[in-house]
Amino acid sequence: MDNNTTVTTETEVAQGSGPRLLACVAEPETRQVARDLAAAQGWRNPVAIEGGVASAHDYITKHAPPNLLIVDVDDVEDPVKALTDLAELCPPEMTVIALGKRNELTLYRELIELGVTDYLLKPVTLAMLERSLRGDNKRQLGQGSAKTQAHVVSFVSVRGGAGATTVAGSTAWCLAHLYQKRVALIDLDLQFGNLALSLDLVPAAGLREALEFPSRLDSRLLGTAMLEESPRLRVLAAEEPLVDQMHVAPGAIDTMLNVLRNDYDFVVVDTPRVLSEEIRRILTLSATVGLVTDLSLASARDLLRLSDFAKTMTPSARHLIVANHVGAKHRGEIAKAEFERVTAVKLDHVVPFEPTAALATASTGTVLPAALKHAPAAAALRAVAMRIAGIETAAAKSNSVLAKLPLPKIAAGFSRGAFLPSFLKRSA
Ligand SMILES: Nc1ncnc2c1ncn2[C@@H]1O[C@H](COP(=O)(O)OP(=O)(O)O)[C@@H](O)[C@H]1O
Ligand SMILES: [Mg+2]
Repeated sequence: MDNNTTVTTETEVAQGSGPRLLACVAEPETRQVARDLAAAQGWRNPVAIEGGVASAHDYITKHAPPNLLIVDVDDVEDPVKALTDLAELCPPEMTVIALGKRNELTLYRELIELGVTDYLLKPVTLAMLERSLRGDNKRQLGQGSAKTQAHVVSFVSVRGGAGATTVAGSTAWCLAHLYQKRVALIDLDLQFGNLALSLDLVPAAGLREALEFPSRLDSRLLGTAMLEESPRLRVLAAEEPLVDQMHVAPGAIDTMLNVLRNDYDFVVVDTPRVLSEEIRRILTLSATVGLVTDLSLASARDLLRLSDFAKTMTPSARHLIVANHVGAKHRGEIAKAEFERVTAVKLDHVVPFEPTAALATASTGTVLPAALKHAPAAAALRAVAMRIAGIETAAAKSNSVLAKLPLPKIAAGFSRGAFLPSFLKRSA
């Protein structure tokens, strides 16, 4: 045990209330991060001990259980089994964040299914822990538990180059990396799509097969067709020969979404501006349709037409209008107020033009919010992801910078039953 570990006082234990936080982690640095989390949240007497699942088991056998358990699973061969055993000792409302070195999607999924709030890869930072908890707060509002059907979000560019690929890729990346969501990202432009490339992934044949032969499709097959950007972000993208004619089978979009819906929190689609049957279908099945526009007069006209089209096709979806490249004089931009006046459309998000974006993203093989995280454009793209994740704050609504957002003080939420009964789903 660390010298500076604070151990739960006798009084607390006698009263039957455990510590707010118990961290059982191998490395001293990570134990310090856990203590920093407690300090940031204003929780007194966190317990941070060396070890992993075994020491958590030992502690909880002898003391009242904590509200939040941060547990290192590297000490056990089979983390799912070990945590299932541990769950026997724990109240259902206990929140569990698992940490480990194993970067395996299957392990992540199984832990989430077990009711663990998150599985974070070591080394873990304070920001990562805070984000996990923020995600947990959100789930408590009834959105996005492990069993929830995925929310489908489609982005369409009002005009070539306006930024659908940038916004779709950035949104998916932020949902996965900043808000800990499981995200499937699909590039429906099978021949000219550049989403895979923008994430430094090599397009594969699986997407075309899935769309041409949907009868073969199941979760396992689609899983193998997906490119893995990271455990939470998987990508379906193709680079089919230009001489080939694509023959998307009737019902293929529905079959693909039905398979993905069960495995992901969000399905984000980069949609080419071709109004084919399958594009119409994906729009119809989307819960959010994002139209990405620049502020040129040419775009104003097409935004109006596309916005009417989207409302007709998807009357019950949320329609988001994202202005991109704002401030880029070379795109024939008019003033934002003027643009809103001529279109009578209110812009939900405004993403500034970032002169270094194309080069920075291409040279790093990642999306704008990752390559240029301090750029105003990155903040605006994070706000789009926050809106889609349902993390709406006054600051997000006014398009301000995520970095400036105060973290919700979640300590007050740690009363009994404050969080979803999360840990005992399987064994209950
Ligand atoms: N806010 C921005 N600032 C500067 N460059 C941008 C911005 N958004 C997108 N780009 C660049 O503009 C180009 C076209 O963007 P892309 O997302 O591919 O558009 P679309 O998918 O609508 O054709 C890309 O090179 C991209 O890096
Ligand atoms: Mg594109």
